[in-house]
This record gives sequence, C-alpha cells and structure tokens, in this order.
Amino acid sequence: MAPSLHQYHISLLSSLLILLIIIISSPQLSLSKPQKPPPKALVLPVSKHLSTLQYLTHIKQRSPLVSLQLVVDLNGDFLWVGCDNYTSSTFRVVRCHTPLCKSLARSFDNGCGSCDNQKKGPRCNPNSCVSFPLNPYLSDPNPNYSELSQDVLSLQTTVDGLNPGRYVSIRRFPFTCASDYITQNLTGSGMAGLGRSPVGMPSQLSSAFGFAKKFAVCLPSSSSNGVIFFGDGPYVMLPRIDISKPLIFTPLLINPLRRTFINPNGEASNEYFIGVKSIKINDKVVPLNTTLLAIDKSGNGGTKISTTVPYTVMHTEIYKAFTEAFVKAAVAMKLERVAGVAPFGVCFSSKGVASTRVGPAVPTIDLVLQSEKVVWRIFGANSMVRVKEGVMCLGVVDGGVGRRFDTHEYYDTMATIVIGGHQLEDNLLQFDLGASMLGFSSSLLFRQTTCSNFNFTTKA
Ligand SMILES: *[C@@H]1O[C@H](CO)[C@@H](O)[C@H](O)[C@H]1NC(C)=O
Ligand SMILES: *[C@@H]1O[C@H](CO)[C@@H](O)[C@H](O)[C@H]1NC(C)=O
Ligand SMILES: *[C@@H]1O[C@H](CO)[C@@H](O)[C@H](O)[C@H]1NC(C)=O
Ligand SMILES: *[C@@H]1O[C@H](CO)[C@@H](O)[C@H](O)[C@H]1NC(C)=O
Ligand SMILES: *[C@@H]1O[C@H](CO)[C@@H](O)[C@H](O)[C@H]1NC(C)=O
Repeated sequence: MAPSLHQYHISLLSSLLILLIIIISSPQLSLSKPQKPPPKALVLPVSKHLSTLQYLTHIKQRSPLVSLQLVVDLNGDFLWVGCDNYTSSTFRVVRCHTPLCKSLARSFDNGCGSCDNQKKGPRCNPNSCVSFPLNPYLSDPNPNYSELSQDVLSLQTTVDGLNPGRYVSIRRFPFTCASDYITQNLTGSGMAGLGRSPVGMPSQLSSAFGFAKKFAVCLPSSSSNGVIFFGDGPYVMLPRIDISKPLIFTPLLINPLRRTFINPNGEASNEYFIGVKSIKINDKVVPLNTTLLAIDKSGNGGTKISTTVPYTVMHTEIYKAFTEAFVKAAVAMKLERVAGVAPFGVCFSSKGVASTRVGPAVPTIDLVLQSEKVVWRIFGANSMVRVKEGVMCLGVVDGGVGRRFDTHEYYDTMATIVIGGHQLEDNLLQFDLGASMLGFSSSLLFRQTTCSNFNFTTKA
C-alpha cells in the first residue's frame, strides 16, 4: 500500500525538523548572534612604583587566566615572564625553523637551541625556539637560556579612547618563558616589551586585530594609573580632552648595530631612537660637539627613549656642557644653587621659585630635532625633581664616557643621551611603527590634564 498523504506530510515535517536542528547546532552554519567587530584599540594601565621608579602594568595570561604584574620596557623585544611555576592548559612551545621563530632569531641558526643541561618543563622542550630575554635591572646582562612560547593573553579594549571596554583574548600570543632567576630586581614577574621587534607586543597586537601598527605611552607621575594604548587614537583624558591631537612628529631612527647574545656581530636594534641635532636652554644653543649626538657606525651615540632609566642619562661630555648652560641660565633667573643630592649634580633651593601650570619656573630645555622648528620642549615639571623640603634638582645624571664594545658585552648600545621616565611623564608619546615616526605632545599639564586621567574605574 502506498503511503498516505498524511504519512508523507509527517515524514516531510520531520526531515525539515532534523535539518533545522542540524543548522542550529552547527557552529559554521549558525545564524545566531552577529560576531562582535574586532577592537580598534586596546589599553593597559601603567603605574609608577615609587621606591624602584619602575613603571608597572598588569596583564591576564594563561588558562585559567592569571593576573600578572610586569615592568614596562619600551625597548624590550617581547613579553617575557618567569616560568618556574608556570601552569596553563593552553601553553604551547614555539618550534625552531618556524617563521615566528626566525623573525625573532634573525641571524641565529633558525632559532634552534638546546637546553640539555636543564630539566624538562615549560622552559625546556625539544626543537624549541631559543630566546634570550633582557632584564636591564640586572648587573650581569647575560641572560639565561629561554624559549619562545605561546599562550592566551587577555587585554581590555577601548571604543571611545576614554573608557575601558570589554576584554578580548588572543589564543596564541607569543612570549618568552624565562627562568625566575632573571626576574630579580623587578617589581613584577617579567617585562612587557614594547620594542619594534616582530614579536614585540605592538606588532603582535596590531596583527592579531588588524589595527594600525601604532601604540602610545602616557606615563603617570604618581602611583595612580597612566595608560598605554595599542592602535590609533583618539586617546582621551578626563575632562574629555583628546590628547592625540595635536602632536609634533619626528622620525624614529634605527640604530643599525646593536649587539645581542644571539648575534654578537650586531643587528639592527629594536629600540627607539630620535635624532636630537642640538639642545637649547632658554633659547640659547648649548655648545656641544654634535658628532656625539649622532649614531656612529659601531652603533654608539644617538638619543634613545627609555622607560627603564628613571632620569635622563647623558654622556659625560654632553652632561658637562648641558649642566653648565643650565646653571648659567638658572642663575640669570635668580635661582640659588645648593649642594648636589645623589644621583643629581645640579640642585637649587626651591624657596621663592614661582610655580607655573607646568611646574617650577626654571629655564626651558629644547631638544631640537630634524629642523630648528621641530622642538621637544621640557618644562620644570619634567626637568626638576623635588628631592627634599626646599630642594629641587635637575633630573639628569652623568652616564660616564661609555664603552666601546667587544664581543663579550651584549644587549646594549651606548646611546649618548637616554631620555628617562621622569622626562616622559604626563607627556603622550605615540610610536607609529608603520611610518617610523614618533608623535609627542609636550606637557599635558598645559592642557589641564595628566596621564592619570584615562577613565579607569579601578585606580592603582
Ligand atoms: C616556585 O617553584 C619553586 C621550585 O621550582 C619553589 O621553590 C617556589 O616556592 C615556587 N614559588 C611559588 C610562588 O609557588
Ligand atoms: C640588583 O640591583 C642592584 C642595584 O643596582 C645591583 O647592585 C644588584 O647586583 C642587582 N642584582 C642582580 C642579581 O643583578
Ligand atoms: C642563570 O644564569 C645565572 C648567571 O649566569 C646562573 O648563575 C644561573 O645558574 C642560571 N640559571 C639557570 C636556571 O640556568
Ligand atoms: C667630536 O667628537 C668626536 C667623537 O668623539 C671626535 O672624533 C672629534 O674629534 C670631536 N670634535 C671636536 C671638534 O672636538
Ligand atoms: C567614567 O567612568 C565611570 C564609571 O564607569 C562612568 O560612570 C562615567 O560616565 C565615565 N565618564 C565619562 C566621561 O565617560
């Protein structure tokens, strides 16, 4: 007997029902909630640790997520953490010969290392990609053998540049898994490297989410949270001031020859240099041998920007000329010089010194860049350090005459000027790695805001 119309309907209906169930339960075919658009920018809080003067940030990593405190290293090649007690269900080791590994170990045998002398664990795997993290706070910069690894990283987004938003995760974010030995002297369990290396945080985050290869640093002058932005502006501070405009731009320079543990013959540096052509104090040129300001063919010289030195360091010859000129200009403004207070050589009585919106009224310092018209002007809030009641010092230290390198010294270039944290605070610095340009704001105090005015709800 042929199936009745009724039976036919039932079988058609049930087929449809089964098809519907398949559609709903299959993730590829699902017509469920639309995907959230990828974030345009991410934010990290950054605070100042008042006894070590290190700049600290917090990230979430691993599965389940663990919150980590890291020291910010503007010139660091990558994110690295002490791994002795590492546990995570999503940890992966990066193998050598892979493109990611070769991008890190540019000239080193495809990055293949060997950790035969150590016990197996998260830091010792066969065919792994060798990586040598640098802790600039250690006296012996020779790093321990470490491995490039990957794990989940979770960061906070921002939609409007003023408020933090939802968290987003990257499943395989590269980082270096290091021995806890090299976390000594850090106020944290590793470092957040913001250098221009292909495995550095800025490059990795912009390629993970497809936003511009730009990031910006706004260091606080206190323990309350400043902010690091990944991606383009607007960067907005309370009361709703877009500090990403206007900025002054200068080329970021590449030091062609930094020696590293992996490559003692030297390779292009991932650090951030700018071209300071001369220095002026109260509009008068400081008499200097300008050869010292340039990067020479052995990779020495030049002006580097750093978050791991608390105060600007100058080569002795520059330091002498600079401090002499500053003292002369200060005395002409009737400031009274007093005894130096280590590590500073030039100090003044702060009694009777007028205070302005941008700090004590002292001579202005101009770093003259690619032309006479492009100037990074430094005011009292960034040039002077209050060391005790009634005494303030010029926040610059004598860096000595520097060394010439032999093959036993690694990971360092002797820049003749290293612009340090105190000089960067409450200034916005935007690093555009695509265009290789630095945009800077000068003091935000002029604009009646500070780097601590991003609308983080939890203050550090
Ligand atoms: C980490 O592991 C080491 C042994 O490798 C142990 O001595 C130490 O107490 C551990 N630290 C923490 C914080 O668990
Ligand atoms: C930690 O820093 C201090 C002060 O700079 C230094 O003397 C010491 O050697 C450092 N510790 C290590 C393990 O390098
Ligand atoms: C790390 O390097 C230091 C200094 O070279 C050494 O004393 C220490 O034993 C090394 N630690 C490991 C785990 O390799
Ligand atoms: C300037 O410094 C360079 C490098 O130290 C040196 O070779 C040169 O002789 C100096 N020039 C003058 C005029 O002192
Ligand atoms: C700042 O954050 C607080 C708490 O999330 C919120 O109530 C306030 O509206 C935010 N301010 C601005 C200007 O968006």
